Amino acid sequence: MSYKDQIDLQKLPRHIAVIMDGNGRWAKGKGKLRVFGHHNGVLSVRDVVEAAGELGVEYLTLYTFSAENWNRPKLEVTAIMELLISTLNKEIAKLMNNNVRLNAIGDLSKLPGKCHRELLAAIEKTSVNTGLVLTLALSYSSRDEIVHAAQQLAAKVQSGELQPQDINEQLFEDNLYTGGMPNPELLIRTSGEYRISNYLLWQIAYAELYFTQKLWPDFRREDLFEAILDYQKRERRFGKTSEQVN
Ligand code: IPE
Ligand code: IPE
Ligand code: MG
Repeated sequence: MSYKDQIDLQKLPRHIAVIMDGNGRWAKGKGKLRVFGHHNGVLSVRDVVEAAGELGVEYLTLYTFSAENWNRPKLEVTAIMELLISTLNKEIAKLMNNNVRLNAIGDLSKLPGKCHRELLAAIEKTSVNTGLVLTLALSYSSRDEIVHAAQQLAAKVQSGELQPQDINEQLFEDNLYTGGMPNPELLIRTSGEYRISNYLLWQIAYAELYFTQKLWPDFRREDLFEAILDYQKRERRFGKTSEQVN
């Protein structure tokens, strides 16, 4: 039986987050430039987005470019930004066909103008869709997101709109870039690195973590299904005992 057939559709994670890592090593292993890895990584994105939509996952959030990634060689950064623009243009029709709603989190103002504009246009165009919400984390830093939320709340306290004691976990969460989204139940990281790299620190407080050795350009729908199956075999206890949750 294929992995897909074994998945219990009643127990799907509503939100899956992915740290798409290993493009550079994948290219290097083939004697190519890092950028070749990024281009092939787009094929994995396409496959995984389609598969998540088919299954009925509600939210898929992909770590596409971190705030720290701006420190990479200029040539690589430029190539990634150009790849983002060309991919948006190429995939928009498919996103519309597949009823996917595009979204983005991060400090988008740091993106090059053309990139920022095309991204906002694609988000606007797909805003009528009602299927999978595909969120790209771009120029994203989780710590920065948390600081930003604190600033917004502080401004509301200063203006008298809010009292300090009104600030609770829910309100804080609502002020994150991900406000309104459920927290991810499953976080996948490829390429055999066992770290979070400043991704969704608040939101993954109780996520199940899944690490695979596969490099991102080799990751396909079957690998997503395998990760979901693994998730479904786990017991999520949220601090309680096994007896309590069964
Ligand atoms: C992930 O792959 C893509 C981005 C961070 C943009 P990497 O480019 O980090 O690939 P490795 O980790 O160097 O192999
Ligand atoms: C995390 O990968 C960022 C993205 C996948 C976009 P990195 O390759 O930048 O993370 P580190 O440097 O290995 O922690
Ligand atoms: Mg990496």
